[in-house]
Amino acid sequence: MVLKDKKIVLGVTGAISAYKALELTRLLVKEEAAVWPVMTRSAKEFITPLSLSTLARAGVSSELFELTEGSKISHIELAQSSDLIIVAPATANIIGKIASGISDDLLTTVISAAAAPVLIAPSMNCRMWENRIVRENVEKLKKLGYLFAGPDTGELACGYDGRGRLANVAEILDAAEEALTIKDLKGEKVLVTAGPTREAIDPVRFVSNASSGRMGYALAKAAKRRGAEVVLVSGPSYLPKPSGITFVPVTAADEMRDACVRYYPQSTIVIMAAAIADYRPTKSYPTKVKKDAKTLSIEMERTIDVLQYMGRKKKNGQILVGFALETENLEENAKKKLNEKNLDLVVANTPLGLDSLTNQVTIINKEGDIEVLPLLGKIDVADRILDRVVRMRD
Ligand code: CTP
Repeated sequence: MVLKDKKIVLGVTGAISAYKALELTRLLVKEEAAVWPVMTRSAKEFITPLSLSTLARAGVSSELFELTEGSKISHIELAQSSDLIIVAPATANIIGKIASGISDDLLTTVISAAAAPVLIAPSMNCRMWENRIVRENVEKLKKLGYLFAGPDTGELACGYDGRGRLANVAEILDAAEEALTIKDLKGEKVLVTAGPTREAIDPVRFVSNASSGRMGYALAKAAKRRGAEVVLVSGPSYLPKPSGITFVPVTAADEMRDACVRYYPQSTIVIMAAAIADYRPTKSYPTKVKKDAKTLSIEMERTIDVLQYMGRKKKNGQILVGFALETENLEENAKKKLNEKNLDLVVANTPLGLDSLTNQVTIINKEGDIEVLPLLGKIDVADRILDRVVRMRD
């Protein structure tokens, strides 16, 4: 809950994608942030202040020097007491004004007086985005420490296809969280594995498990948000690829092993959340198996235990975190894995966490300390695991 109780000025400018600012507002409020919407005059041509203020549960400010209804905050106070300013959508015009230090309306005045980070989510026609002046403005702002989310490439409302679409609202939310997170993993190279593996029986069938990849993806996103350089090795998953990380998609346990072996030496922290197959069919049929026989037996052979291999090769300073999925004797079995695989931490959980948005885990360290966490959303579990890793580093 990085955004909880954070004071966020949401600047909305006049682009067709302004309607997406409504969804962004809804999500920010859902995260329990206090949203102060500021609209430019042209934004009001696209969406109404009423919609925005209803979703923000706060009055919309628009005019300079005006104390708006429901808000007793002057523009300077608004600027000084906010934790973050988001401009979404941001037109080429507002980007140009910020880059030139112009403050001729409430939003630009608030931005120029602000101490908080400013996150800009551009939205414009692709030709405008490619315009050399816009490019220079964006580069200048980036150099000055302004943060950007998007724009994305795709179909544009003006009929063009190209770069200029407002970033996905979820991506803007992630960027907002990142802007407000202490970078306690800066300098760390984190390798995370996620999802199931698939071991082929024939070209259309495979042996796999119920892992969705959510826990590993949450760990990768949280580590990135906290400043780490992240490599995510993922088995097949329907989750969207997290942005700003190195993403390595794999299918079978052998590919998972190869990817881990490749990235392990340069990693400072490894978190193995993947549900890697322990067995695979001894042979994979080249053509589809027909239902001719009454019964069918598939002989299986062991795959390599990637984590155990890493435990053996662990260098000084590398932190190795494993998971333990148990249906019985949770703590005892997890401790056994911690010792046998030479781990620094083991995160024990049950099948209830599989393919679920939440998880209830127990974290055990080498000293035998046991931390039982309550049922939490997976992103919160990820942060709690990373808190432990950071504490170990300290
Ligand atoms: N793991 C691995 N390679 C495998 C199997 C598991 O690296 N072939 C890792 C998992 O990513 C996890 C940890 O080992 O971090 C424990 O996995 P788990 O499935 O709980 O247990 P196993 O070690 O496979 O043992 P068992 O199935 O007997 O409980």
